Amino acid sequence: METDLQSIIAEAEARLPALDSMAQFEQFKATLVGPNGSFTAVTKTIGKLPPAERPLAGKLINQYKTRLQALFDAAQERLQAEAEAARLGPPVDVTLPSPDRPAGTAHLITQVREEICSILRKIGFVVADGPEVETEYFCFDALNTPKDHPARDLHDTYYTHPETAFGNVSQKADERYLLRTHTSSVQIRTMLAQPPPVRIIAPGRCFRRDTADATHSANFHQIEALYVDKGVTVRDLKADLDFLFRSLLGADAETRFRPHYFSYTEPSFEVDFRVGHLSKVGSEWMEIMGCGMVDPAVFAEVGYDPDIWSGYAFGLGIERIAMTLYGIDDIRYLYQNDARFLRQFA
Ligand code: DAH
Repeated sequence: METDLQSIIAEAEARLPALDSMAQFEQFKATLVGPNGSFTAVTKTIGKLPPAERPLAGKLINQYKTRLQALFDAAQERLQAEAEAARLGPPVDVTLPSPDRPAGTAHLITQVREEICSILRKIGFVVADGPEVETEYFCFDALNTPKDHPARDLHDTYYTHPETAFGNVSQKADERYLLRTHTSSVQIRTMLAQPPPVRIIAPGRCFRRDTADATHSANFHQIEALYVDKGVTVRDLKADLDFLFRSLLGADAETRFRPHYFSYTEPSFEVDFRVGHLSKVGSEWMEIMGCGMVDPAVFAEVGYDPDIWSGYAFGLGIERIAMTLYGIDDIRYLYQNDARFLRQFA
């Protein structure tokens, strides 16, 4: 009897893995355990044995029945898994980006920043960088800004705890940290790090304690420029700004300087521009940015000899330029991430 059972198991072990459908499985299973199956036939022989041998034979059959059932279970599980996989199709990597996803585009502020940077790169400027969390030294002191200047006031500047100001090397132990209010701090960082000549632009994020309205945002973007060499004059400043605005706005763009005060430039100017073809602006002069000739006090602070070197600096607001170029009348649109707005500039 045991040899019969062994050969049934051997047959099941050989045949089951080769089956490839549930129908085949059911068919094969019937040839073993169906009413006329070979295993069923063996179980029936128990009745013909002498009563004394029956319990042992019953035990043996039960052992083989368990083994056979395990083989059936494994085959059934495999066939069900295969059927499920076939239903789902080829495996999908759910971490891959959707093939239907529309390609993104750069945000308008990024586009305008890149355009301005690429224009200025043509006349020799390279991009410099500085941290958004600054010290009072780089943001104000080294830029010759008096201690009692209103910009330093808590109402205008976000101060932060020194421990949250990563990557800053404080000049003085008791110095306060802040979110930079302008990119002019990069002028100082650059000049302290390298000897003249210098020709850098520093695009970046700035922060002021402004309540958001159509023209104010607590977070905005600037591009700073600093050019230091022998014999740099206001004429270079005017010519380079004309080049910038004509490249940006068209050949009919004009700029004019109005005297102003910035602590780090002397003389200092505010720049207005106008462009005939921009209907929103028309022939009106529009104030757009600040600039001037680097103040000798700033040169003295960074160890440049003001008798040898001269330079100009300017800083412009990227939002302001973007709004002017595209006729956007509320700065808040630029930060709301509303795709209906952003797509217009895609
Ligand atoms: N830092 C000024 C501001 O945020 C802009 C500015 C004015 C930058 C004159 C300059 C400059 O480099 O020379 O309003």
